[in-house]
Amino acid sequence: MKDKIKNVYFRIWYWLISTIDKNAEITFMNYGYSGENIKIKLDENDKKNKYSAQLYHYIATGIDIEGKDILEVGCGRGGGLSYIKRYLSPNSATGLDLNKKAIEFCNMHYTEERLDFVQGNAQRLNFQDGFFDVVINVESSHRYDKMDEFLSEVYRVLKPGGYFLFTDFRHKNEIETLYIQISNSKFMHLKDEIITDNVLEALKLSTKEREVLIQKIAPKFLHSLGKKFAATEGTPTYKKFALQEFEYLFKVLKK
Ligand SMILES: C[S@@+](CC[C@H](N)C(=O)[O-])C[C@H]1O[C@@H](n2cnc3c(N)ncnc32)[C@H](O)[C@@H]1O
Repeated sequence: MKDKIKNVYFRIWYWLISTIDKNAEITFMNYGYSGENIKIKLDENDKKNKYSAQLYHYIATGIDIEGKDILEVGCGRGGGLSYIKRYLSPNSATGLDLNKKAIEFCNMHYTEERLDFVQGNAQRLNFQDGFFDVVINVESSHRYDKMDEFLSEVYRVLKPGGYFLFTDFRHKNEIETLYIQISNSKFMHLKDEIITDNVLEALKLSTKEREVLIQKIAPKFLHSLGKKFAATEGTPTYKKFALQEFEYLFKVLKK
């Protein structure tokens, strides 16, 4: 019941972003990644999303993505997939999200060739078996009520030998369940990493710019809620990462 209420709360927030962000200021909706291992030269226009783009960069370079056909499940407002398409040269990139307004935004905002967006549900993917070389999933799965169905759908739409690049957070009490769900799937495990400190560092370093953006686009009565969703320094979510109550994982899985 508590999870269902939380889901509705998040869906309202995603809808709100689509409604108030008239100038396409928000193209990423993740907490970001900071680490000395990331050395990318971003175009001027991408610099404002440095940490969120770095999260995509870090997970997408878990394998060689060049020339591959990739699907992102839970693509949100498409900034991450557009980053991958422009910087890492996959053959094609398809983004899927439950939120119709986010998909409408993506289809209007991005013009790159072989970068497409469709509305759909992570737990019932509307693609043929063995369609993609790579599936990625960034900070979206904590909203799914049937994680096992999502995992088996990802397995189904991947080609034999295809990769699943997965990153998300869970409360420490839910980590065990997630590990069991993943080990019950048919995937081979190639990499298993906790990146909580990198995410926390990114949240710390991006707090100022997140706050400025919230003040710029949201009416005053939404500022505190906006900071809460953006997990800026001092908010309950930030504190949960700082106290290691939330753990952020990165996994590379293979079919
Ligand atoms: C925190 S946002 C992350 C978006 C994007 N990956 C990013 O990093 O910018 C989570 C996204 O997951 C999507 N989502 C939640 N449940 C979903 C489902 N069952 N199927 C597809 N997308 C879902 C939400 O609509 C939202 O856009």
